[in-house]
Amino acid sequence: MLKRALSTYSLLLFAAAIGIISAPTVAVAQTAATPPSVAPDTSRPPDTSRPDSPRADSARPWMNPSLSPDERADLVLKQLTLDEKIALLHGNGMARSPRWTMPLTDLVNGGAGYVEGVPRLGIPGLVISDAAYGVRDSGANGRYSTALPSSLGAASSWDPESACEYGAVIGSELRAQGFNMTLGGGVDLAREPRNGRTFEYAGEDPLLAGTIVGNLMKCEQAQHVVGDIKHYAINDQETGRNFVNAVISKRGMQESDLLAFHIAISIANPAAVMCSYNRVNSDYACENSYLLRDVLKNDWGFKGFVLSDWGGTHSTEKASSAGLDQEQPMARYFGPKLREAVDAGRVPLSEIDDHARRVLYGEFLSGIVDDPPKKGVVDVEKGLEVAQHVEENSIVLLKNRQSVLPIVPARVHSIAFIGGHADVGMISGGGSAQVDPPGGNAIMPPGKGATSWQQHIWFPTSPLQALRAKLPNTKIEFDPGTDSDSAAKLARNSDLAIVFAWQWESEGMDLPNLALPDNQDALIEQVAAANPHTIVVLESGTAVTMPWIDKVAGVVEAWYAGSSGHKALANVLVGEVNPSGKLAITFPKSEQDLPHLVIPPAPPRLRGQGSAPVNADAPPSNYAVQYDEGAEVGYKWYQSEHKTPLFPFGFGLSYTTFAYSALSVDSSAKTARFTVRNTGTRAGTEIAEVYATLPRGSDESFQRLAGFARIALAPGKSQTVTVSIDPRVLQTYDETAAHWNLAPGSYQILVGPSSGNTPLTGSLLIH
Ligand code: BGC
Repeated sequence: MLKRALSTYSLLLFAAAIGIISAPTVAVAQTAATPPSVAPDTSRPPDTSRPDSPRADSARPWMNPSLSPDERADLVLKQLTLDEKIALLHGNGMARSPRWTMPLTDLVNGGAGYVEGVPRLGIPGLVISDAAYGVRDSGANGRYSTALPSSLGAASSWDPESACEYGAVIGSELRAQGFNMTLGGGVDLAREPRNGRTFEYAGEDPLLAGTIVGNLMKCEQAQHVVGDIKHYAINDQETGRNFVNAVISKRGMQESDLLAFHIAISIANPAAVMCSYNRVNSDYACENSYLLRDVLKNDWGFKGFVLSDWGGTHSTEKASSAGLDQEQPMARYFGPKLREAVDAGRVPLSEIDDHARRVLYGEFLSGIVDDPPKKGVVDVEKGLEVAQHVEENSIVLLKNRQSVLPIVPARVHSIAFIGGHADVGMISGGGSAQVDPPGGNAIMPPGKGATSWQQHIWFPTSPLQALRAKLPNTKIEFDPGTDSDSAAKLARNSDLAIVFAWQWESEGMDLPNLALPDNQDALIEQVAAANPHTIVVLESGTAVTMPWIDKVAGVVEAWYAGSSGHKALANVLVGEVNPSGKLAITFPKSEQDLPHLVIPPAPPRLRGQGSAPVNADAPPSNYAVQYDEGAEVGYKWYQSEHKTPLFPFGFGLSYTTFAYSALSVDSSAKTARFTVRNTGTRAGTEIAEVYATLPRGSDESFQRLAGFARIALAPGKSQTVTVSIDPRVLQTYDETAAHWNLAPGSYQILVGPSSGNTPLTGSLLIH
C-alpha cells in the first residue's frame, strides 16, 4: 500500500517540481491512513477508469448492486487509505491545456478531466467531458458528437420529455466516446440577458429552468454517466467571472437562482454539482459555506459531491470545511496541501471521509461502477432524429402578420434567402459548450475549419438546401447580405424575403448589448423596405432587440439550432410542423428596460475573460455587481417596474389559435383545471401557463409561474387539463429565520398563453 501511495505522491512531487502544482511540504508517512483489509495491488494500472473485476464476492461486498449507493459507499470507504481518499478529491489535468497538465493527464481521454479511481477495489476513475449541448472536443479526438439545440432553445419547448431525450442522447454519446462523467446541466437564471452563457442556461424562471434541466440531467445520468448540475451559484455574467462578487440578499437568491437549482437537483438527483467561479456575497462560490454546506448539503440534503469549476478552487482548509469535495482540474489545493493539512490537524479526517464518501456515493448512484462505458460508434441517426425533434418543439414564432407563414407554394413562387451564411449552415454557441461540426466550420474552406476557442462556428446545416428540398418548384436564391443594396434588389424581385440573422455568444465574454451585430439591423430594414413580405429568422443565444419589428411580416426564433436545425426550421417554415415553442426569456424593447443599464466593466488588468488564465493569482478585487433586483428576474422585473417588453416570457404563436375557458382551482389539491380548445384549422400544440400572485399584503407585484402543460389538439378539439400548482414557487424566504413560508390567504391564479396574456383567473386559498 505504502508503495502505491508513494507512487501517487512521487507523481505529485514531480508535478510540483516542474511547477505544475505548488510544492508539498508534508512528509509522506501514512499516519492517518486506515489500513486496508483487502490486499492491495501495488502495480499501477495505466487507467484507473477501468477497474478490476466489477463482480461482488465476499471480499468485495460493495459490488453487490442490490445494496444502496449509501451502503456501498460506506463499505468502500472503510477500505481506503488516506491517500486513496485524497486521490478521489482532485483532478489530474485537462486535455490540450499546457497550463493544466499533470502526470496522469493522458488519461483524460481527450476530455476535461480525470480523477483516479481505486482499481484494487473495483472503483473506476472519473473520465470527464464537457457536454452542454453535446459532447465537446470531438474534433480534436477524431470523433463525432451530435449538437442538440442550445439549452435556452430546449427550455423554449417547455417539454420535460424533449429534455429527457436531449439528456439521453448526450449520455449515450459520452459513453460511446469513453467518458463516464458529464459537465452539463447549466441552470443559472437569465438574470443578466447579456451574459455570454445565456444559451447554456434554461431561461429566467426557476420552475421552468429547474424542470427542463432537471429532466435533461435525470435522463443523461440514467445512461450511467455521473450527472452534473452547474454553475452553483449566481454565475449570471462572464465579465470578471473569476473574481466578480455577486451581491444579493439571501431572500433574493433563494427565490430565484437557488430555487432553480433546488428544483433541478430534486428532479435529476445528480451525483455531482459544480460550484462556480464567481464570489457570492464576498466568498468564492467554491468556498462558500452558506451555498455549499448550509443550503446545498444541509437544507436540500444533496448527497453527491461538489466539484469546483476549472481553476475555481482558492483554498484548502476554507474550501474543504465549506463543503467543496473535489478540486478541478488540478491538485493545487486538494492534493499534497490537503494531505499536509490533515496531518497537521487543520482539516479533520471526518471531513476527508465525507468528501471521499460523496464521490463514491456518486459513482454508485450513477451506475458507472456496475456499468462502465464501452467505446463504440455513436448512434448518429438517433442523435440527428432527437436534435430535430427537440428543435421542432423549441422554435418560437414571434410574429406572423397576415399569416405570412407557413409558406404556401401555390402563392409563393420565388424567395430571396438573405444573410447569416444560410446557404451553408447555422451558427452555434462557443466556449466549453462548443460541439465540433462534422467537416469543420461550414463558413470556412474545407479542411480549414478547425474549431478553436471563441471562434464563430457554423454547423454544415444549410437552411437553403433544406428549404429547397421542401419547395422543389419554388425559386429560392441566396444573397449573402454583405451588400444590402444587392440583398434589397433580390428581395424586391421575389415574392417573399427571408433574412437570417445571427447573434453569437460564448463563455468568457458577455454581449455589449442585445442588438444584432454586424449591421444586420440595417440589412433587415433595407430588405423589409424592399419587400413587405419579409421574415426574419433569428439564430440567437439570448434575447434580441428588434428596432425593425414593425416593418417585417414575420419573426421566427430558431436559437442555436443544433445538428438538424435546418430540417426543423424548414418544416416549420412550410407548415409541416406547427410551431409550439414559447420564450423562456423575455425579449425587452431595449437595454434601458433591464435591471442594469450596463454590466459594470471589470478592472482593466483583471478582466478574467476569454482565454485569460482563470487561475491567475489576481490580487483581491472589489469588483462587484449588486443584484438589487433580487428575485425579480426577467418577467418578474418587467411586471414590477410596469415595463412592457417587446415579447413577454412565455410568448409564442402558432399557425392555429387556441381558446381558454372554465378555470376551477382546487385549493386542497393545489391544482388548476381548465379547458383549452383549438379554434383554428390546423393541428397544434399549446403550452398553457399557470401563474400565481401572492395574497394581498405581500410586498411584491409580479406573477410567479406555478405550473404549465403542453397540450396537443386537433382542429376544433378541446381538452380539459389539470395542472399542479407547485407550492415551492409560492413560498417566500424569511432570511432572518432562515425559513420558507407559505403565507395563508388568497392567491390569485392566472391562466393563459403567456405571462403577458392570462385570460382566466381564479383563487387558491391557503389556510
Ligand atoms: C467552464 C465550465 C466547464 C469547465 C471545463 C470552465 O471554464 O466554466 O463550464 O465545464 O471549464 O471545461
